[in-house]
Amino acid sequence: MTRGERAARAAIASRLAAAGVATPEADARRLLAEVAPERLEEAVARRAAREPLQLIVGTVGFRYLELDVAPGVFIPRPETEVLAGEAVARCPDGGTVVEPCTGSGAVACSVASEARPARVLASDADPAAVALARANAARLGLAVEVTRGDLAEAVPGALVGAVDVLVANPPYVAEGELAALPPEVADHDPPAALRAGPTGHEATDALIAVARTSLAPGGHLLLETDERRAAETAARARRAGLVDVGVLPDLTGRDRVVAARQPPRGAPPTPPPAAPPDAPPDAPPDAP
Ligand SMILES: C[S@@+](CC[C@H](N)C(=O)[O-])C[C@H]1O[C@@H](n2cnc3c(N)ncnc32)[C@H](O)[C@@H]1O
Repeated sequence: MTRGERAARAAIASRLAAAGVATPEADARRLLAEVAPERLEEAVARRAAREPLQLIVGTVGFRYLELDVAPGVFIPRPETEVLAGEAVARCPDGGTVVEPCTGSGAVACSVASEARPARVLASDADPAAVALARANAARLGLAVEVTRGDLAEAVPGALVGAVDVLVANPPYVAEGELAALPPEVADHDPPAALRAGPTGHEATDALIAVARTSLAPGGHLLLETDERRAAETAARARRAGLVDVGVLPDLTGRDRVVAARQPPRGAPPTPPPAAPPDAPPDAPPDAP
């Protein structure tokens, strides 16, 4: 790198740092590497206005894939690579994987590219997410069946009781936590991708119920959630009758992934689900 290039990078980084960007050096490096010189000033101004870098350059790296992103669709985060990796690791050869709340399709595409499933089904309530996930899977040549629908209906009737892995990064921000989100999230991720409801447990509770009815015996549930809600989410999974429940750290060491299994065939019956207590929101949330 020449002295001039170093100076240009330092100038961009200091402008981004002054604007409150959390990773000014890395962002300056990527802008210089990926944006054409005639677009650079506009791109730096957008980033300084706290537009996510991924929307400015148009793509995001996720595990081994380069995915397109689009305004209005949740941008996949590095933390979610752990969730996807767990789904890859738990997918049996010839297995069936279902990913509700797929967004850009990052998790489903990773499973389809890294594991050897028979079927990967992904769905989302948002038509823009469905279109982007379909486009990403098609461009990458991956067999992911993407449909539009509510997370509660993510498993088609014919697959009830036959799903090997149910994996999701659903909305998990509680109403009272939205104001604490950084501008990159609050102003650019769609509210429906973030907001779960008053407690933040609404979508994960619904997915635990889907897991209970839809997973094959011994099948896996994997959920990303807020660090402060992971233990309670695990407790809710246990109360619902799932077994082998555990909490796994994300790439930054925070407890963010809840893993659980449907009881294996012949396991003693589990007690009926109890009503979960609601945990009050208290501190700034994790971005989903
Ligand atoms: C946090 S984003 C995660 C997207 C993607 N899985 C990822 O990790 O990048 C949550 C996604 O859930 C979708 N969503 C929210 N509520 C939903 C519901 N009730 N049923 C289906 N999808 C829903 C949103 O449209 C959004 O794409």
